[in-house]
Amino acid sequence: MPPPLTTTTTTFLLLITASLLLTITTSQDSDPDSDCTNKWIHIRQLPPQFNLDLLTNCSEYPLYDNFCPYTSNHGLGQKTHNNSHSWYRTDPFMLELIFHRRILEYPCLTSDPNLAKAIYLPYYSGIDSIKYLFGPEYNFSSQHGLDLFHYLSKTDTPSIWKRNFGHDHFLVMARPAWDFSQPISNDPPLFGTSFLELPQFFNVTALTLESRAYPWQEQAIPYPTSFHPPNLAYLESWINRVRRSRRNTLMLFVGGGGISANPNIRRSIRLECENSTSLSTHETGYGKLCEFVDCSNGICEHDPIKFMKPMLQASFCLQPPGDTPTRRSTFDGFLSGCIPVFFEEMSGKRQYNWHLPEAEYGEFSVFIPKEDVVFKGVRIVDVLMSIPRVEVRRMREKVLEMMPRVMYRKHGSSLGLRSKKDAFDIAIEETLQKIKSRVEEFAAQ
Ligand SMILES: *[C@@H]1O[C@H](CO)[C@@H](O)[C@H](O)[C@H]1NC(C)=O
Ligand SMILES: *[C@@H]1O[C@H](CO)[C@@H](O)[C@H](O)[C@H]1NC(C)=O
Ligand SMILES: *[C@@H]1O[C@H](CO)[C@@H](O)[C@H](O)[C@H]1NC(C)=O
Ligand SMILES: *[C@@H]1O[C@H](CO)[C@@H](O)[C@H](O)[C@H]1NC(C)=O
Ligand SMILES: *[C@@H]1O[C@H](CO)[C@@H](O)[C@H](O)[C@H]1NC(C)=O
Repeated sequence: MPPPLTTTTTTFLLLITASLLLTITTSQDSDPDSDCTNKWIHIRQLPPQFNLDLLTNCSEYPLYDNFCPYTSNHGLGQKTHNNSHSWYRTDPFMLELIFHRRILEYPCLTSDPNLAKAIYLPYYSGIDSIKYLFGPEYNFSSQHGLDLFHYLSKTDTPSIWKRNFGHDHFLVMARPAWDFSQPISNDPPLFGTSFLELPQFFNVTALTLESRAYPWQEQAIPYPTSFHPPNLAYLESWINRVRRSRRNTLMLFVGGGGISANPNIRRSIRLECENSTSLSTHETGYGKLCEFVDCSNGICEHDPIKFMKPMLQASFCLQPPGDTPTRRSTFDGFLSGCIPVFFEEMSGKRQYNWHLPEAEYGEFSVFIPKEDVVFKGVRIVDVLMSIPRVEVRRMREKVLEMMPRVMYRKHGSSLGLRSKKDAFDIAIEETLQKIKSRVEEFAAQ
Protein backbone atom coordinates (compact mmCIF):
# COMPACT_ATOMS: atom_id res chain seq x y z
CA MET A 1 0.00 0.00 0.00
CA PRO A 2 1.38 3.43 -0.86
CA PRO A 3 1.15 6.00 1.96
CA PRO A 4 -2.15 7.89 1.95
CA LEU A 5 -1.90 11.11 -0.03
CA THR A 6 -2.90 14.34 1.59
CA THR A 7 -5.45 16.43 -0.27
CA THR A 8 -2.82 18.97 -1.17
CA THR A 9 -0.61 16.36 -2.71
CA THR A 10 -3.42 14.68 -4.57
CA THR A 11 -4.49 17.97 -6.07
CA PHE A 12 -0.92 18.74 -6.96
CA LEU A 13 -0.52 15.34 -8.57
CA LEU A 14 -3.71 15.69 -10.59
CA LEU A 15 -2.81 19.16 -11.73
CA ILE A 16 0.68 18.14 -12.69
CA THR A 17 -0.64 15.21 -14.69
CA ALA A 18 -3.34 17.28 -16.34
CA SER A 19 -1.08 20.12 -17.32
CA LEU A 20 1.60 17.75 -18.48
CA LEU A 21 -0.81 16.06 -20.89
CA LEU A 22 -2.08 19.41 -22.01
CA THR A 23 1.37 20.79 -22.63
CA ILE A 24 2.71 17.78 -24.39
CA THR A 25 -0.24 17.48 -26.71
CA THR A 26 -0.42 21.14 -27.58
CA SER A 27 3.03 22.63 -27.42
CA GLN A 28 4.79 20.89 -30.21
CA ASP A 29 2.77 22.25 -33.06
CA SER A 30 0.43 24.80 -31.55
CA ASP A 31 2.58 27.88 -31.85
CA PRO A 32 4.18 28.16 -35.28
CA ASP A 33 5.75 31.51 -34.35
CA SER A 34 7.80 30.19 -31.49
CA ASP A 35 10.86 28.57 -32.94
CA CYS A 36 11.86 25.64 -30.79
CA THR A 37 15.05 24.79 -32.64
CA ASN A 38 17.75 24.16 -30.05
CA LYS A 39 15.24 24.69 -27.24
CA TRP A 40 13.53 21.33 -26.84
CA ILE A 41 13.41 20.03 -23.29
CA HIS A 42 12.37 16.56 -22.21
CA ILE A 43 11.03 16.01 -18.69
CA ARG A 44 12.43 12.76 -17.42
CA GLN A 45 9.70 10.65 -15.85
CA LEU A 46 10.69 9.77 -12.29
CA PRO A 47 8.89 7.49 -9.84
CA PRO A 48 7.00 9.44 -7.15
CA GLN A 49 9.57 8.52 -4.50
CA PHE A 50 11.73 11.28 -6.06
CA ASN A 51 9.12 14.03 -5.89
CA LEU A 52 5.47 13.71 -4.86
CA ASP A 53 6.04 11.07 -2.18
CA LEU A 54 8.43 13.45 -0.47
CA LEU A 55 5.55 15.87 0.10
CA THR A 56 3.21 13.38 1.72
CA ASN A 57 5.17 13.53 4.97
CA CYS A 58 5.54 17.30 4.95
CA SER A 59 4.44 17.57 8.55
CA GLU A 60 6.63 14.77 9.87
CA TYR A 61 10.21 15.55 8.99
CA PRO A 62 12.23 15.30 12.18
CA LEU A 63 13.78 18.51 13.54
CA TYR A 64 12.12 20.46 10.76
CA ASP A 65 9.09 22.68 10.41
CA ASN A 66 5.82 21.38 9.16
CA PHE A 67 6.20 22.62 5.62
CA CYS A 68 2.82 21.47 4.29
CA PRO A 69 1.43 25.02 4.03
CA TYR A 70 4.37 26.08 1.88
CA THR A 71 3.70 23.37 -0.71
CA SER A 72 0.29 24.83 -1.63
CA ASN A 73 -0.23 26.68 -4.92
CA HIS A 74 2.51 24.57 -6.48
CA GLY A 75 5.13 25.79 -4.07
CA LEU A 76 4.14 29.48 -3.98
CA GLY A 77 2.58 28.86 -0.57
CA GLN A 78 -0.65 30.30 0.75
CA LYS A 79 -1.86 33.71 -0.33
CA THR A 80 -1.05 36.46 2.15
CA HIS A 81 -4.75 37.43 2.10
CA ASN A 82 -7.78 35.82 0.54
CA ASN A 83 -8.14 38.65 -1.95
CA SER A 84 -4.48 38.99 -2.82
CA HIS A 85 -3.61 38.30 -6.46
CA SER A 86 0.17 38.40 -6.41
CA TRP A 87 1.36 37.93 -2.83
CA TYR A 88 2.08 34.57 -1.21
CA ARG A 89 3.77 33.23 1.91
CA THR A 90 6.53 31.72 -0.20
CA ASP A 91 9.24 29.58 1.28
CA PRO A 92 12.38 29.77 -0.89
CA PHE A 93 13.16 26.08 -0.38
CA MET A 94 10.03 25.30 -2.40
CA LEU A 95 11.67 26.45 -5.64
CA GLU A 96 11.85 22.81 -6.74
CA LEU A 97 8.02 22.69 -6.82
CA ILE A 98 7.68 26.12 -8.40
CA PHE A 99 10.13 25.19 -11.13
CA HIS A 100 8.43 21.86 -11.78
CA ARG A 101 5.07 23.53 -12.24
CA ARG A 102 6.45 26.26 -14.48
CA ILE A 103 8.33 23.92 -16.79
CA LEU A 104 5.04 22.16 -17.59
CA GLU A 105 4.03 25.29 -19.50
CA TYR A 106 7.35 25.70 -21.28
CA PRO A 107 6.45 25.96 -24.98
CA CYS A 108 9.16 23.61 -26.29
CA LEU A 109 8.62 20.37 -24.39
CA THR A 110 9.12 17.12 -26.20
CA SER A 111 8.24 13.59 -25.19
CA ASP A 112 11.13 12.30 -27.27
CA PRO A 113 14.40 12.42 -25.31
CA ASN A 114 16.38 12.03 -28.51
CA LEU A 115 15.01 15.31 -29.82
CA ALA A 116 15.74 17.17 -26.59
CA LYS A 117 18.62 19.56 -26.07
CA ALA A 118 18.22 19.25 -22.31
CA ILE A 119 16.70 16.72 -19.94
CA TYR A 120 15.00 18.04 -16.80
CA LEU A 121 14.96 15.86 -13.67
CA PRO A 122 11.88 16.68 -11.58
CA TYR A 123 13.63 15.52 -8.41
CA TYR A 124 12.89 17.46 -5.17
CA SER A 125 16.47 17.11 -4.10
CA GLY A 126 16.46 19.77 -1.38
CA ILE A 127 13.36 18.33 0.26
CA ASP A 128 14.85 14.85 0.01
CA SER A 129 18.01 16.15 1.68
CA ILE A 130 16.17 17.09 4.89
CA LYS A 131 16.39 13.54 6.20
CA TYR A 132 20.17 13.65 5.82
CA LEU A 133 20.64 17.24 7.03
CA PHE A 134 18.42 17.05 10.10
CA GLY A 135 17.09 13.54 10.36
CA PRO A 136 17.73 9.89 10.86
CA GLU A 137 19.89 9.49 7.76
CA TYR A 138 22.51 11.95 9.01
CA ASN A 139 25.21 9.29 9.06
CA PHE A 140 24.42 8.29 5.47
CA SER A 141 24.65 11.72 3.90
CA SER A 142 27.26 10.56 1.43
CA GLN A 143 24.54 8.42 -0.13
CA HIS A 144 22.23 11.27 -1.12
CA GLY A 145 21.52 10.78 -4.83
CA LEU A 146 22.74 7.23 -5.26
CA ASP A 147 19.23 5.82 -5.66
CA LEU A 148 18.47 8.47 -8.28
CA PHE A 149 21.64 7.64 -10.15
CA HIS A 150 20.83 3.98 -10.03
CA TYR A 151 17.41 4.68 -11.46
CA LEU A 152 18.76 6.90 -14.26
CA SER A 153 21.64 4.76 -15.35
CA LYS A 154 20.37 1.26 -14.78
CA THR A 155 16.64 0.94 -14.23
CA ASP A 156 14.83 3.20 -16.63
CA THR A 157 15.90 3.43 -20.29
CA PRO A 158 19.61 3.82 -19.56
CA SER A 159 20.12 5.07 -23.12
CA ILE A 160 18.73 8.50 -22.12
CA TRP A 161 21.58 8.98 -19.68
CA LYS A 162 24.19 7.34 -21.87
CA ARG A 163 23.48 9.46 -24.93
CA ASN A 164 25.52 12.28 -23.38
CA PHE A 165 26.59 10.68 -20.10
CA GLY A 166 24.45 13.09 -18.12
CA HIS A 167 25.95 16.24 -19.67
CA ASP A 168 22.49 17.24 -20.93
CA HIS A 169 20.66 16.59 -17.62
CA PHE A 170 19.72 19.34 -15.16
CA LEU A 171 17.82 19.72 -11.91
CA VAL A 172 16.94 22.32 -9.29
CA MET A 173 18.46 22.04 -5.81
CA ALA A 174 16.75 24.73 -3.78
CA ARG A 175 19.35 25.29 -1.08
CA PRO A 176 22.87 26.71 -1.08
CA ALA A 177 25.27 24.34 -2.88
CA TRP A 178 27.20 24.23 0.37
CA ASP A 179 24.46 21.97 1.78
CA PHE A 180 25.30 19.35 -0.85
CA SER A 181 29.08 19.57 -0.89
CA GLN A 182 30.33 17.55 2.01
CA PRO A 183 33.40 15.51 1.04
CA ILE A 184 32.44 11.87 0.75
CA SER A 185 35.36 10.89 2.96
CA ASN A 186 34.14 12.86 6.04
CA ASP A 187 33.59 10.27 8.73
CA PRO A 188 31.72 10.93 10.92
CA PRO A 189 29.90 13.33 8.62
CA LEU A 190 29.57 17.05 9.24
CA PHE A 191 26.65 19.11 8.00
CA GLY A 192 25.58 18.58 4.38
CA THR A 193 25.04 15.79 1.90
CA SER A 194 27.60 14.78 -0.73
CA PHE A 195 25.34 14.99 -3.77
CA LEU A 196 27.54 17.48 -5.61
CA GLU A 197 30.67 15.59 -4.61
CA LEU A 198 29.55 12.30 -6.15
CA PRO A 199 31.38 11.58 -9.43
CA GLN A 200 28.07 10.15 -10.64
CA PHE A 201 26.66 13.70 -10.85
CA PHE A 202 29.70 15.66 -11.99
CA ASN A 203 28.22 16.02 -15.48
CA VAL A 204 24.79 17.24 -14.38
CA THR A 205 23.88 20.92 -14.15
CA ALA A 206 22.37 21.89 -10.78
CA LEU A 207 20.47 25.14 -10.28
CA THR A 208 21.01 26.18 -6.67
CA LEU A 209 20.15 29.20 -4.54
CA GLU A 210 23.84 29.87 -3.95
CA SER A 211 26.94 28.44 -5.57
CA ARG A 212 30.34 27.62 -4.13
CA ALA A 213 33.38 29.78 -4.75
CA TYR A 214 34.60 27.54 -7.55
CA PRO A 215 31.48 25.93 -8.95
CA TRP A 216 31.59 23.25 -11.58
CA GLN A 217 28.14 21.66 -11.73
CA GLU A 218 26.03 24.38 -10.15
CA GLN A 219 24.74 27.81 -11.07
CA ALA A 220 22.99 30.12 -8.63
CA ILE A 221 19.55 31.43 -9.57
CA PRO A 222 17.42 33.92 -7.60
CA TYR A 223 15.70 32.95 -4.36
CA PRO A 224 11.94 33.08 -4.89
CA THR A 225 10.27 36.05 -3.19
CA SER A 226 6.63 36.44 -2.18
CA PHE A 227 5.54 38.33 -5.29
CA HIS A 228 4.12 36.22 -8.12
CA PRO A 229 1.93 38.37 -10.35
CA PRO A 230 -0.53 36.60 -12.69
CA ASN A 231 -0.61 39.29 -15.39
CA LEU A 232 1.09 42.38 -16.74
CA ALA A 233 -1.34 44.80 -15.12
CA TYR A 234 -0.47 43.58 -11.62
CA LEU A 235 3.23 43.77 -12.36
CA GLU A 236 2.99 47.26 -13.79
CA SER A 237 0.85 48.64 -11.02
CA TRP A 238 3.33 47.26 -8.48
CA ILE A 239 6.27 48.85 -10.32
CA ASN A 240 4.44 52.17 -10.31
CA ARG A 241 3.74 51.90 -6.62
CA VAL A 242 7.40 51.14 -5.94
CA ARG A 243 8.55 54.04 -8.10
CA ARG A 244 6.26 56.51 -6.31
CA SER A 245 7.03 55.25 -2.82
CA ARG A 246 8.35 57.93 -0.46
CA ARG A 247 11.71 56.84 0.92
CA ASN A 248 12.24 58.42 4.25
CA THR A 249 14.92 56.03 5.50
CA LEU A 250 18.47 56.12 4.16
CA MET A 251 19.38 52.53 4.96
CA LEU A 252 17.61 49.46 6.25
CA PHE A 253 18.72 46.14 7.61
CA VAL A 254 16.19 43.32 7.81
CA GLY A 255 17.52 40.25 9.56
CA GLY A 256 19.00 38.82 12.68
CA GLY A 257 22.39 38.07 14.13
CA GLY A 258 25.16 40.44 15.14
CA ILE A 259 24.49 40.11 18.85
CA SER A 260 27.68 38.30 19.76
CA ALA A 261 30.68 40.24 21.02
CA ASN A 262 32.93 39.07 18.18
CA PRO A 263 33.57 41.60 15.46
CA ASN A 264 31.60 40.81 12.33
CA ILE A 265 29.67 42.74 9.74
CA ARG A 266 26.22 42.15 11.23
CA ARG A 267 27.44 43.37 14.58
CA SER A 268 28.93 46.50 13.01
CA ILE A 269 25.64 47.21 11.24
CA ARG A 270 23.71 46.77 14.47
CA LEU A 271 25.99 49.14 16.36
CA GLU A 272 26.05 51.72 13.62
CA CYS A 273 22.29 51.61 13.34
CA GLU A 274 21.82 52.07 17.08
CA ASN A 275 24.17 55.07 17.05
CA SER A 276 22.77 56.77 13.99
CA THR A 277 19.34 57.27 15.50
CA SER A 278 20.81 59.96 17.70
CA LEU A 279 22.30 61.85 14.77
CA SER A 280 20.68 65.00 13.55
CA THR A 281 18.84 64.33 10.30
CA HIS A 282 17.41 67.67 9.25
CA GLU A 283 20.21 68.41 6.79
CA THR A 284 20.30 64.92 5.33
CA GLY A 285 16.77 65.00 3.96
CA TYR A 286 16.00 61.62 5.48
CA GLY A 287 13.72 61.23 8.49
CA LYS A 288 15.77 58.27 9.60
CA LEU A 289 19.32 57.33 8.72
CA CYS A 290 19.06 53.71 9.68
CA GLU A 291 16.30 51.26 10.46
CA PHE A 292 16.73 47.79 11.84
CA VAL A 293 13.92 45.26 11.42
CA ASP A 294 14.66 42.36 13.72
CA CYS A 295 13.76 39.09 12.02
CA SER A 296 15.62 36.79 14.39
CA ASN A 297 14.40 33.20 14.71
CA GLY A 298 12.71 33.30 11.33
CA ILE A 299 9.79 35.42 12.51
CA CYS A 300 9.51 37.25 9.16
CA GLU A 301 9.99 34.26 6.93
CA HIS A 302 6.44 33.70 5.75
CA ASP A 303 5.17 37.16 6.49
CA PRO A 304 6.27 39.47 3.68
CA ILE A 305 4.40 42.49 5.06
CA LYS A 306 6.86 42.63 7.95
CA PHE A 307 9.74 43.50 5.65
CA MET A 308 8.19 44.79 2.43
CA LYS A 309 6.71 47.89 4.08
CA PRO A 310 10.00 49.12 5.56
CA MET A 311 11.82 48.18 2.34
CA LEU A 312 9.47 50.36 0.31
CA GLN A 313 10.43 53.28 2.54
CA ALA A 314 14.20 52.86 2.36
CA SER A 315 16.72 53.98 -0.27
CA PHE A 316 19.31 51.30 0.50
CA CYS A 317 18.98 47.76 1.85
CA LEU A 318 22.01 46.28 3.60
CA GLN A 319 22.68 42.68 2.51
CA PRO A 320 25.48 41.35 4.72
CA PRO A 321 26.48 37.67 4.69
CA GLY A 322 25.08 35.47 7.46
CA ASP A 323 25.46 31.70 7.76
CA THR A 324 26.22 31.78 4.04
CA PRO A 325 27.11 34.73 1.76
CA THR A 326 23.71 35.11 0.04
CA ARG A 327 20.22 35.93 1.29
CA ARG A 328 16.71 35.89 -0.02
CA SER A 329 16.33 39.43 1.26
CA THR A 330 18.44 40.70 -1.66
CA PHE A 331 15.59 39.75 -3.98
CA ASP A 332 12.87 41.12 -1.70
CA GLY A 333 14.87 44.34 -1.88
CA PHE A 334 14.82 44.32 -5.70
CA LEU A 335 11.05 44.02 -5.60
CA SER A 336 10.74 47.05 -3.38
CA GLY A 337 13.14 49.22 -5.35
CA CYS A 338 15.58 49.25 -2.45
CA ILE A 339 19.17 49.49 -3.71
CA PRO A 340 21.27 46.57 -2.40
CA VAL A 341 24.47 47.23 -0.46
CA PHE A 342 26.81 44.22 -0.60
CA PHE A 343 29.77 43.57 1.67
CA GLU A 344 31.18 40.53 -0.12
CA GLU A 345 31.48 39.71 -3.84
CA MET A 346 30.15 36.24 -3.02
CA SER A 347 26.83 37.75 -1.92
CA GLY A 348 25.80 38.65 -5.46
CA LYS A 349 28.37 39.48 -8.07
CA ARG A 350 29.90 36.02 -8.14
CA GLN A 351 26.55 34.25 -7.94
CA TYR A 352 23.72 35.45 -10.11
CA ASN A 353 25.50 36.44 -13.31
CA TRP A 354 22.78 34.88 -15.48
CA HIS A 355 20.14 37.17 -14.02
CA LEU A 356 22.17 40.17 -12.90
CA PRO A 357 25.08 40.73 -15.29
CA GLU A 358 28.36 41.18 -13.45
CA ALA A 359 29.35 44.23 -15.47
CA GLU A 360 26.22 46.11 -14.37
CA TYR A 361 26.53 45.71 -10.59
CA GLY A 362 27.87 49.23 -10.23
CA GLU A 363 24.67 50.56 -11.79
CA PHE A 364 22.24 48.93 -9.36
CA SER A 365 24.19 48.19 -6.19
CA VAL A 366 26.79 49.56 -3.77
CA PHE A 367 29.79 47.55 -2.63
CA ILE A 368 31.56 48.21 0.68
CA PRO A 369 34.14 45.55 1.65
CA LYS A 370 33.18 44.17 5.06
CA GLU A 371 36.75 44.44 6.35
CA ASP A 372 36.61 48.21 5.83
CA VAL A 373 33.54 48.45 8.02
CA VAL A 374 34.50 45.93 10.70
CA PHE A 375 38.19 46.75 11.08
CA LYS A 376 38.92 50.09 9.42
CA GLY A 377 36.17 52.24 10.87
CA VAL A 378 34.41 53.01 7.59
CA ARG A 379 30.84 54.10 8.37
CA ILE A 380 28.18 52.79 5.99
CA VAL A 381 26.07 55.90 6.54
CA ASP A 382 28.93 58.11 5.34
CA VAL A 383 29.48 56.05 2.20
CA LEU A 384 25.79 56.10 1.30
CA MET A 385 25.31 59.79 2.16
CA SER A 386 28.16 60.66 -0.20
CA ILE A 387 26.29 59.29 -3.22
CA PRO A 388 24.58 62.20 -5.01
CA ARG A 389 20.76 62.15 -5.05
CA VAL A 390 20.61 62.05 -8.83
CA GLU A 391 22.83 58.98 -8.80
CA VAL A 392 20.61 57.31 -6.20
CA ARG A 393 17.60 57.89 -8.46
CA ARG A 394 19.42 56.43 -11.44
CA MET A 395 20.36 53.34 -9.44
CA ARG A 396 16.80 52.86 -8.28
CA GLU A 397 15.57 53.01 -11.88
CA LYS A 398 18.09 50.31 -12.74
CA VAL A 399 16.86 48.17 -9.82
CA LEU A 400 13.32 48.52 -11.21
CA GLU A 401 14.55 47.59 -14.67
CA MET A 402 16.12 44.38 -13.28
CA MET A 403 13.11 43.49 -11.10
CA PRO A 404 11.18 41.32 -13.63
CA ARG A 405 14.35 39.29 -14.25
CA VAL A 406 14.63 38.21 -10.62
CA MET A 407 10.98 37.47 -9.81
CA TYR A 408 9.07 34.27 -10.51
CA ARG A 409 5.71 35.08 -12.07
CA LYS A 410 2.74 32.90 -11.26
CA HIS A 411 2.17 29.71 -13.23
CA GLY A 412 -0.56 30.02 -15.84
CA SER A 413 -0.05 33.77 -16.11
CA SER A 414 -1.32 35.91 -18.98
CA LEU A 415 0.34 35.96 -22.38
CA GLY A 416 1.24 39.61 -21.89
CA LEU A 417 3.24 38.83 -18.79
CA ARG A 418 4.85 35.82 -20.45
CA SER A 419 6.39 38.15 -22.98
CA LYS A 420 8.60 39.56 -20.21
CA LYS A 421 11.41 37.25 -19.21
CA ASP A 422 11.32 36.29 -15.55
CA ALA A 423 13.81 34.40 -13.39
CA PHE A 424 12.53 31.04 -14.65
CA ASP A 425 12.74 32.00 -18.35
CA ILE A 426 16.29 33.25 -17.94
CA ALA A 427 17.34 30.17 -16.00
CA ILE A 428 16.01 27.92 -18.79
CA GLU A 429 17.64 29.95 -21.57
CA GLU A 430 21.01 29.95 -19.87
CA THR A 431 20.79 26.30 -18.86
CA LEU A 432 20.25 25.39 -22.51
CA GLN A 433 23.34 27.43 -23.43
CA LYS A 434 25.44 25.86 -20.71
CA ILE A 435 24.35 22.36 -21.66
CA LYS A 436 25.04 23.07 -25.32
CA SER A 437 28.65 23.91 -24.62
CA ARG A 438 28.98 20.96 -22.22
CA VAL A 439 27.66 18.54 -24.81
CA GLU A 440 29.86 20.00 -27.54
CA GLU A 441 32.90 19.65 -25.32
CA PHE A 442 31.91 16.09 -24.49
CA ALA A 443 31.42 15.22 -28.17
CA ALA A 444 34.86 16.61 -29.01
CA GLN A 445 36.57 14.40 -26.45
C1 LIG B 1 6.44 8.97 6.19
O1 LIG B 1 6.75 8.90 7.55
C2 LIG B 1 6.51 7.62 8.10
C3 LIG B 1 6.77 7.74 9.59
O2 LIG B 1 7.59 8.83 9.90
C4 LIG B 1 7.41 6.59 7.46
O3 LIG B 1 7.17 5.33 8.00
C5 LIG B 1 7.13 6.57 5.99
O4 LIG B 1 8.03 5.72 5.34
C6 LIG B 1 7.27 7.96 5.42
N1 LIG B 1 6.84 7.93 4.05
C7 LIG B 1 7.55 8.47 3.09
C8 LIG B 1 6.92 8.38 1.73
O5 LIG B 1 8.60 9.03 3.26
C1 LIG C 1 -10.41 32.90 3.31
O1 LIG C 1 -11.02 31.91 2.50
C2 LIG C 1 -11.22 30.68 3.15
C3 LIG C 1 -11.70 29.66 2.14
O2 LIG C 1 -12.55 30.23 1.19
C4 LIG C 1 -12.17 30.88 4.33
O3 LIG C 1 -12.35 29.65 5.01
C5 LIG C 1 -11.57 31.91 5.26
O4 LIG C 1 -12.47 32.18 6.32
C6 LIG C 1 -11.25 33.19 4.54
N1 LIG C 1 -10.54 34.08 5.43
C7 LIG C 1 -10.82 35.37 5.54
C8 LIG C 1 -9.99 36.15 6.50
O5 LIG C 1 -11.69 35.90 4.89
C1 LIG D 1 25.73 8.95 13.82
O1 LIG D 1 26.85 8.24 14.29
C2 LIG D 1 27.33 8.71 15.53
C3 LIG D 1 28.64 7.98 15.85
O2 LIG D 1 28.55 6.63 15.51
C4 LIG D 1 26.27 8.51 16.60
O3 LIG D 1 26.73 8.99 17.85
C5 LIG D 1 25.02 9.28 16.19
O4 LIG D 1 23.97 9.03 17.10
C6 LIG D 1 24.57 8.87 14.79
N1 LIG D 1 23.50 9.78 14.38
C7 LIG D 1 22.30 9.36 13.97
C8 LIG D 1 21.32 10.41 13.61
O5 LIG D 1 22.03 8.17 13.86
C1 LIG E 1 30.81 12.17 -17.27
O1 LIG E 1 31.37 12.53 -18.50
C2 LIG E 1 32.63 11.94 -18.78
C3 LIG E 1 33.07 12.44 -20.13
O2 LIG E 1 33.02 13.83 -20.20
C4 LIG E 1 32.50 10.44 -18.80
O3 LIG E 1 33.78 9.87 -18.98
C5 LIG E 1 31.93 9.98 -17.47
O4 LIG E 1 31.73 8.59 -17.50
C6 LIG E 1 30.62 10.67 -17.21
N1 LIG E 1 30.10 10.31 -15.90
C7 LIG E 1 29.01 9.58 -15.75
C8 LIG E 1 28.65 9.26 -14.34
O5 LIG E 1 28.31 9.22 -16.66
C1 LIG F 1 28.64 54.45 18.86
O1 LIG F 1 28.66 55.49 19.80
C2 LIG F 1 29.49 55.25 20.91
C3 LIG F 1 29.30 56.38 21.92
O2 LIG F 1 29.12 57.59 21.26
C4 LIG F 1 30.95 55.16 20.43
O3 LIG F 1 31.79 54.87 21.51
C5 LIG F 1 31.05 54.03 19.41
O4 LIG F 1 32.34 53.98 18.86
C6 LIG F 1 30.04 54.23 18.30
N1 LIG F 1 30.04 53.03 17.47
C7 LIG F 1 29.95 53.07 16.16
C8 LIG F 1 29.95 51.74 15.46
O5 LIG F 1 29.85 54.10 15.52
